[in-house]
Amino acid sequence: MAKLPPVRVVRAATSVRTALQSLTRRMVPPEVDLLELVSGFMATHTVYAVARLGVADALADGPRPAAEVAAGLGTDADATYRLLRAAAALRLLREDAGGRFALTPLGATLRADRDDSMRPVVLMIGDPAYQVVWGRLWESVTTGAPSAEAALGVPMWEYLDRDPQFAAAFNDAMTRLSALDWPTVEAAYDFTPFSTIVDIGGGHGQLLARMLGAAPAATGVLLERESVIAGAEAHLREAGVLARCRLEAGSIFETAPDDGDLYVLRRVLHDFDDDRATAILTTLRRHMPDGATLLLMESVVPPGNDPHFAKSLDLDMLVFVGGRERTEAELATLLHRAGFRTTRVVPTISTISLVEAEARR
Ligand SMILES: C[S@@+](CC[C@H](N)C(=O)[O-])C[C@H]1O[C@@H](n2cnc3c(N)ncnc32)[C@H](O)[C@@H]1O
Repeated sequence: MAKLPPVRVVRAATSVRTALQSLTRRMVPPEVDLLELVSGFMATHTVYAVARLGVADALADGPRPAAEVAAGLGTDADATYRLLRAAAALRLLREDAGGRFALTPLGATLRADRDDSMRPVVLMIGDPAYQVVWGRLWESVTTGAPSAEAALGVPMWEYLDRDPQFAAAFNDAMTRLSALDWPTVEAAYDFTPFSTIVDIGGGHGQLLARMLGAAPAATGVLLERESVIAGAEAHLREAGVLARCRLEAGSIFETAPDDGDLYVLRRVLHDFDDDRATAILTTLRRHMPDGATLLLMESVVPPGNDPHFAKSLDLDMLVFVGGRERTEAELATLLHRAGFRTTRVVPTISTISLVEAEARR
């Protein structure tokens, strides 16, 4: 298990960083501050272009001039130089006095050949389908409904079934994001007391594989949409845990395995409004044996003005699927409505918290 700093140390460091950021912001006039703020999308697309074109891989063996990178990638030499210069301004690369570009540690996270590559996440966020939906945030705020349907022609989950390239980007990003916060989850929660771990809406089984790794005596069950299950089988086989798993295709609104002692929902409830989230939990409550534990893994919205990923992710849920991130009190209310009682909330040093609950009798 990775050695991680305690939550309070990370919180203190984050407070210092937030204070320093706010100090540097106050050193520029508000108009300049605003211009930088609203130009944030340019950074998104610069990072996306670097990731999509494979620039980080082209520089993996050492610094190279832009013309050489362009020749290798089959891109326009002048435009490639300009992209690399902009990427250097974003700290992804460094240009030396001889005009050669080198990867920084930040840029190296975009290499495709690394297990911990962030490229899949960037390919999802920068994808035109993702960006066109966010471009209509104002519309979602006007109507209170997701803008994905208007932007993509069909609701998000249907769109994923129709656009295999975006679906692959989405599922790969989910796999990577799940891996990213796993060490913080593993450090915060003991999975060994459980014998049957059920992952509800568990994507390609990335988290299930890790939980089974942490609880070697346990078996696992994955409930997912039919179109996702096929990818999950391959993933679980590769992770070496397929023999300990049962895969069930079905809707989380209609069914749930009835033999688990731990039921996990990682970033599933946030996809849904309160009524639909309650429907999922009520279905679960009906199927869960007495005494089983429910574990939600969600980004919990903190009070106050400080930056927190949950506040942006909340808007992401609004525009794509009409879901939301919730405060601790909102999650407790939701659980109560579906017949559960929150037993504890375990913070982690990542943006995810673990909300544990049991069925009310
Ligand atoms: C945001 S993803 C989270 C995936 C995974 N739990 C993770 O943390 O990486 C939500 C998941 O819920 C699944 N899902 C959505 N609606 C579903 C339904 N009606 N039945 C089964 N799964 C569903 C999706 O296929 C998707 O994999």
